Amino acid sequence: MSKVTALYPGSFDPPTNGHLDLIERGAKIFEELVVGILRNSEKVPMFSLQERLDMLITLTAHLKNVRVETFRGLMVEYAKSIHATCVLRGIRAVSDYEYELQMALMNRKLEPTLETVFMMPADKYSYVSSRLVREVAQVGGPVRGLVPEVVEQKLRERLEPAYKFHDDIAEDMARTTGVREKRRKKI
Ligand code: PNS
Repeated sequence: MSKVTALYPGSFDPPTNGHLDLIERGAKIFEELVVGILRNSEKVPMFSLQERLDMLITLTAHLKNVRVETFRGLMVEYAKSIHATCVLRGIRAVSDYEYELQMALMNRKLEPTLETVFMMPADKYSYVSSRLVREVAQVGGPVRGLVPEVVEQKLRERLEPAYKFHDDIAEDMARTTGVREKRRKKI
């Protein structure tokens, strides 16, 4: 059988542990895996294309058959240009299926020779998405365990005021609870 190159396309804004889990699984079954970050001018991303590229290059450095690139335009055309015969996508829950099926069938219509392969990330990441990570981080919430450490660090740097605000509130709450506790003991 000839060598199979697969493309794992996405926005990766930011990359999560679920993405990384899928990349590691994909790297085991495909001879070559290209992580393709979409250059999307419509959405305003939290992280620039260069930042996402740098993060993903760092995160996949240990996987010798994985490389990270960016693309624009139709995914199927980019896949063809890198000689990918498979597209890898992750399915976390039934709710992902409808959108993914629609996209896979549209891509098949556009390029019948390109096969979409679905894989499931570890179940502990089944609820993790970039959108929810951004939502939690934007109000300074903890994202440890949901994203790799380099991404967590980047989120902290980017959202410093939100984390400071969150830490201040937590400190305030702890102080108030302590005062209440002291009062309660006196009674
Ligand atoms: O991580 P995401 O945002 O779910 O990834 C979606 C992505 C990048 C795979 C999809 O939007 C895509 O392939 N965009 C490129 C344009 C394209 O080919 N659109 C047709 C899809 S049917």
